[in-house]
Amino acid sequence: MSLIDVENLTLQFKTDEGLITAVDNVSFSLAPGEVMGLVGESGSGKSVTAKSLMKLNPGNAVYAPESRITLHLDSGPVDVMSLKRPRDMEVVRGGAVSMIFQEPMASFAPAMTIGSQMVEQLLIHTDMSKAQARELSVEMLDRVGIADASTRFGQYAFEMSGGMRQRAMIAMALSTKPKLLIADEPTTALDVTIQAQVIDLMKDLVDEFGMGIIFITHDLGVVAQTADKVAVMYLGKMIEQGPVREVIRTPSHPYTQGLIDALPQLDDLDKPLMPVPGDIPSPLERPEGCVFHTRCTKIIGDVCRTTVPSWADTGESHRAACHLCHQGHRA
Ligand SMILES: Nc1ncnc2c1ncn2[C@@H]1O[C@H](COP(=O)(O)OP(=O)(O)O)[C@@H](O)[C@H]1O
Ligand code: SF4
Ligand SMILES: [Mg+2]
Repeated sequence: MSLIDVENLTLQFKTDEGLITAVDNVSFSLAPGEVMGLVGESGSGKSVTAKSLMKLNPGNAVYAPESRITLHLDSGPVDVMSLKRPRDMEVVRGGAVSMIFQEPMASFAPAMTIGSQMVEQLLIHTDMSKAQARELSVEMLDRVGIADASTRFGQYAFEMSGGMRQRAMIAMALSTKPKLLIADEPTTALDVTIQAQVIDLMKDLVDEFGMGIIFITHDLGVVAQTADKVAVMYLGKMIEQGPVREVIRTPSHPYTQGLIDALPQLDDLDKPLMPVPGDIPSPLERPEGCVFHTRCTKIIGDVCRTTVPSWADTGESHRAACHLCHQGHRA
């Protein structure tokens, strides 16, 4: 039984320069208790995909009619695409799904203390008493590594450092024990010790409550530490999906191979870091055929320039969208 099914998600933005395709025919599923890493360079469509799950994209977003997002809650399935009025959105925005953003300031009301926001949220979304909500909020602040949590509870967001705000936001998002947590580069701004602490806390909550997590990052190293499975995006397309260890050990798609080659190797620090050569094309000029063909060192020929590659199975629950894989080869 899955927690969320995303099928053929396609989204364009209307802009002054024309239509930008930000997400192109993306499909994936997540089971309760599963952690999926969503990776790709900046601009690949990770945040837009994540926001779609809560219909948080701005008004210039146009979803293609075949896009389907189904959230399976205890109360039954929710067709997210059909939610239009703010009142309907309560189902997804009200505790069942929580999102942690890259920019923590956006998550806090400036004129309320961190604590009163956390308590208010718990009073709305759970049947806790005020005293219980307060106790849990302080406990959550403590669990994300905020020292002297009961004092911090009474402070405003602007009184905290950036890293502490980030942790407070994570504490707030986790306190309602969402079924699905979407974490958009949540640890990017944190130092490594705190990053490890936050990742451990997320893992504990997965074990305790069977929460599903979509963990967005441009860092494959963080994915290796946190996720069960990984999905790789490039220029709005999902190009590889599979169990995390298998994808990192034996990637199928040349782009994933490129990301792995760009990782520092602890056992061979002299190894040159090989970033994927070239720049991501502008989303206004998406390449025909395989979107990666302008940077691919394994390009086979015209088929890559003209025909969009379909998914090829390359292992148990492991697949890649590449013509090479259809010929039985890997990256
Ligand atoms: N509101 C918007 N209007 C127009 N284009 C947007 C908007 N939001 C995102 N985009 C574009 O969509 C693409 C994907 O963006 P995003 O999902 O933020 O990438 P990522 O999170 O992978 O770095 C980018 O080309 C970005 O410029
Ligand atoms: S389809 Fe062709 S261009 Fe695209 S990743 Fe595979 S080999 Fe490279
Ligand atoms: Mg992003």
